[in-house]
Amino acid sequence: MSDSKARLSIGDTILELDKLEATVGQPAIDIRRLRADAGHVTFDPGFANTANARSEITYINGAAGELRHRGYQIEDLAINCSFLEVAYLLLYGKLPNRTELEAWELDISTHTLLNEEMRSFFDAFPRRAHPMAVLSSATNAISTFYDVYRRPTRKQEIDSGARTLIAKMPTVAAWAFKKSIGEPYVYPDNNLDYVENFLHMMFTRPVEDVPIDPAVVKALNVLLILHADHGQNCSTATVRAVGSSRANMFTSVAAGMGALWGPLHGGANQSVIEMLQVIHDDPDATIDSTIARAKDKDDDFRLMGFGHRVYSNYDPRARVLKSYAEDVLDRMETSDPLLEIARELEAAALADDYFASRKLYPNVDFYSGIIFRALGFPERMFTVLFAIGRIPGWIANWMEMNSDPDTRIMRPRQLYVGETARDFVPLDQR
Ligand code: SDX
Repeated sequence: MSDSKARLSIGDTILELDKLEATVGQPAIDIRRLRADAGHVTFDPGFANTANARSEITYINGAAGELRHRGYQIEDLAINCSFLEVAYLLLYGKLPNRTELEAWELDISTHTLLNEEMRSFFDAFPRRAHPMAVLSSATNAISTFYDVYRRPTRKQEIDSGARTLIAKMPTVAAWAFKKSIGEPYVYPDNNLDYVENFLHMMFTRPVEDVPIDPAVVKALNVLLILHADHGQNCSTATVRAVGSSRANMFTSVAAGMGALWGPLHGGANQSVIEMLQVIHDDPDATIDSTIARAKDKDDDFRLMGFGHRVYSNYDPRARVLKSYAEDVLDRMETSDPLLEIARELEAAALADDYFASRKLYPNVDFYSGIIFRALGFPERMFTVLFAIGRIPGWIANWMEMNSDPDTRIMRPRQLYVGETARDFVPLDQR
């Protein structure tokens, strides 16, 4: 059998299936003929063994703990680039030169303002509304001001939709936050760069000017870059699934935000802090009792911020964040007892065979919340920060899916294990 084929024998049928080569990483077996030629479907809940697309955006080697965007290592991008530089790389496949970057930054900075009618949109939410609910709703609402985004066909319409989403997300996030604390909305200032502007809208108050610390700007750039894209994760696969029906970019991204909000996905950063806070506050909760709960099959508690669908090694983003956390706390001239607890919890878990044997390591969410806290963000905003970072990754995947001739509307099969045929029974005979 040639090595470009995979052979599958089912009963008397022997199928030769094409193998599809990757530029790096695992090849794929093309099973698109399987049902027609062998009358079978595959069974793969969560698609852990199934590629949903060809992609050129992000490569992850889970065993080696390696993450690259368009070939560049995440560690290099995080330390050397701005978030908008990485956003451009994800969308257009190359790092911008200085002229391209300046034009891109200007394009973004001049589209940060929301339509004034959006104020009543935020006013309609209760103050206790979780900002992720506001963010996903507002993402759909923004598109209603621009008919072109409902059916974008030309490249410049798609590009301007991408720019609008990236430009306006910080404004939406900041206004959702201001609404939740009963403070007036702060308008964007186009003289500030992307992250400065977001901090300005988040923390400026009518009664006092809040200086923007360059160390906070740098740290937030790093954090947003580390969240920018991560292959076919749950939320990105959701964006592709919704977009595969030809739904527009805004509503596809809004659906991705819903997936990200789950505590097993992007909501984990908030859950990690809640877990660490319990250990800090509750005398009955210790490092050992927390580890024991995570190992207890009768307890649905999990060690939040640990484990990953792809990494069987240390998440390289967690490695950057762990080293960065202390640096940020030092620069902010603050300390956080939760950082020490996180370190002790990590050490205890990595020394425990339950975690070691299952190759469970800290993921991006384990340390990110501690840095977000140090930067002054409330816990309810942590997943929103993750979403702002992931916007370019979601858009890049939506764009790639729409230009891929192999794209089909998402419609998985199932293994039906329900009732066989039954005769109907009228109501008065049941
Ligand atoms: C993100 O996919 C991405 O790329 C996501 C992401 C991105 O950038 O988009 O990286 C962001 O979502 C990071 C993950 C954040 N979530 C958490 O930190 C929540 C805690 N982690 C888990 O719930 C879990 O690890 C998952 C959901 C992340 C992964 O789950 P899997 O791969 O389905 O693992 P599994 O359920 O098959 O677990 C394998 C074993 C099981 O035990 P056994 O059945 O073998 O006895 O490991 C155990 C699990 O019980 N396990 C854990 C655990 N994670 C897995 N046990 C305790 N604590 C954990 N955190």
